[in-house]
Amino acid sequence: MEQELLRLKQEAEETLAQVAGSDQLEAFRVKYLGRKGGLLTGVLRQLGKVPAEERPRLGQLANDVKQGIEALFEEKKDLFAARSATGMEGFDYSLPGRYLPFGKLHPVTQVMEEICSIFEGLGFAVAEGPDVETDYYNFEALNIPKHHPARDMHDTFYVTESILLRTHTSPMQARIMERQDPPLRYIAPGKVYRCDSDITHTPMFHQVEGFLVDRQVSFADLKGVLTSFTHKMFERELALRFRPSFFPFTEPSAEVDIACVICGGGGCRVCKRTGWLEILGSGLIDPEVLKMVGYDPDIYSGFAFGLGVERIAMLKYGIDDIRLYYENDLRFLSQF
Ligand code: PHE
Repeated sequence: MEQELLRLKQEAEETLAQVAGSDQLEAFRVKYLGRKGGLLTGVLRQLGKVPAEERPRLGQLANDVKQGIEALFEEKKDLFAARSATGMEGFDYSLPGRYLPFGKLHPVTQVMEEICSIFEGLGFAVAEGPDVETDYYNFEALNIPKHHPARDMHDTFYVTESILLRTHTSPMQARIMERQDPPLRYIAPGKVYRCDSDITHTPMFHQVEGFLVDRQVSFADLKGVLTSFTHKMFERELALRFRPSFFPFTEPSAEVDIACVICGGGGCRVCKRTGWLEILGSGLIDPEVLKMVGYDPDIYSGFAFGLGVERIAMLKYGIDDIRLYYENDLRFLSQF
């Protein structure tokens, strides 16, 4: 009888472990614990036939086995009750979790944040201004009067005669200088708009403006800041070339090229065989611009630069069509 009890105990425990729903649990109860015909109940009934001196020990054992199984049964019953209360009955807890797709920042946002953090490391503060701008800040304050030929280059979207979508981030130079006295060190990231669209132009794109005003600022300071920026941005010591250029708000002005990131300067399709890639426009702030915000150009001087974020991102990641950024194809965007 002792053997029989221990065997039944083991069998019942194994069966209970496999029970996966309340129907099976009820079948289990009937088979082992049922009042009529339950296997355990059957064994207990035979206690009467056991020799009197064995009875106390076996009786004790039989009770322990029965209580043990009843306790496990109750535990399982509570678990199923809890599951059915949450509507989770029959739920397979061993299934792997469901995959939740994670969003990411747009590559242009990522590169813009990277540019800003490099300049913040160089001591520049970040400022943001309006996309809908006045003609005054976008042009006049930057030494581009009405009918100036430089306005042609900007392909401006006008809202009214005097309100427009800013064509560059340079209006932030005037906005900040007019409110504060030097020394100033700012970068201004944001969207800009031009009526232009092809594989290298989109009607909206991003720029990061940077400028610094203090006493005795020279072109050497501009070169130093931009050199250290490009080395950090492209993670190697690419050569820089300052090419004379013209902007009405800087004098002298320079466009800055870096040695081609694809061929290293030997000449290839991307750099149109020149070995150089243009990345930004820059110069020393024109004394006329300083005068308009009330600074004395005999005391203060400064430099400014404006770089195209999409262009830098294209060079950094080897992308040859700017429109890919704005088609919202996740197969493209999720690579960054
Ligand atoms: N605003 C100029 C552009 O959009 C770039 C620039 C910024 C040039 C600052 C010089 C100084 O082309």
